[in-house]
Amino acid sequence: MIKNPASSFDLNSYLISKRKKVNAFINEILNNTVNSSRIVQAMHYSLMAGGKRVRPILCIAASEAVGGNADDVLPAACALEMIHTYSLIHDDLPAMDNDDLRRGKPTCHIAFDEATAILAGDALLTLALRILSSINLINEKNSSNWLRVVHRISFAAGHNGMIEGQMRDIASEGTLLSLEELENMHSLKTGALIEAAIFSGALLGGGSPRQIDQLEIYAKNIGLAFQVADDILNVEGDPAVMGKAAGTDNARGKSTYPSIMGLNESKEFAKKIVRNALQALDDFDNKSDPLSAIACYIIERKK
Ligand code: IPE
Ligand code: IPE
Ligand code: MG
Ligand code: MG
Repeated sequence: MIKNPASSFDLNSYLISKRKKVNAFINEILNNTVNSSRIVQAMHYSLMAGGKRVRPILCIAASEAVGGNADDVLPAACALEMIHTYSLIHDDLPAMDNDDLRRGKPTCHIAFDEATAILAGDALLTLALRILSSINLINEKNSSNWLRVVHRISFAAGHNGMIEGQMRDIASEGTLLSLEELENMHSLKTGALIEAAIFSGALLGGGSPRQIDQLEIYAKNIGLAFQVADDILNVEGDPAVMGKAAGTDNARGKSTYPSIMGLNESKEFAKKIVRNALQALDDFDNKSDPLSAIACYIIERKK
């Protein structure tokens, strides 16, 4: 356990209430599309299968930490979840990790079919960009911030971020990466989108340049910690709790923190970078309690 400076903060209630907001917004968007079509069913199936909503909640919590509020950043928060969900649908495809279970349910290509899963992913990515650029969101005062958010999120999700990370993940199967290569891969694959979520919340919430810089440090550390924790769970997590298979990284010869550093060292490393993240919040007041609590949750979670 690491010492959480916001230990009296009720993270569980916070996560439940923010998940509710995010789910309501996503449902509203999907209900306004052609409901009967198979592609919308597939998008809805994966989006509403029970994800933890970590990225949208981080976006909201970053906004609150700088004095903003959840409603102002909800479109960005939900767009991030759509991009993340698309990445999981594609990640599970036979051409990639070939997984059958995700979020406790059959993966999209199993529940539907491969072509539908590919297209549902494509459609979620493009829907995210539509949500981010919805004209009714953008007034004269904040239009340049929304443009920066679109730029940052699309940068993070693309070939300079998540996609490059996924390419390296696939290419590294069966090889042994150096620690530096592994850290870079994880930062791209998982860190970039998490960092974009926190940046977006902080910017739209009205954060000062100094606050945003500190939150970027927080984000870099928890982004990496999140994937280290995912690697650890793949070794010792309970599939029934996680809603996805365990042991698969080893079976596929993936380079992961446990495979390169060992399990205990990986846990120590995860704690160290979460401590770095907490330190970056030192100058914030108690509005950053959710961010502190989430940092600890990221490495203590069981799913
Ligand atoms: C899983 O992400 C894949 C990684 C990037 C490590 P999450 O652990 O956030 O998965 P969901 O959204 O809760 O299903
Ligand atoms: C998930 O990565 C996809 C992205 C990070 C884009 P992993 O393959 O490592 O995660 P799980 O274990 O399938 O959720
Ligand atoms: Mg993968
Ligand atoms: Mg995978």
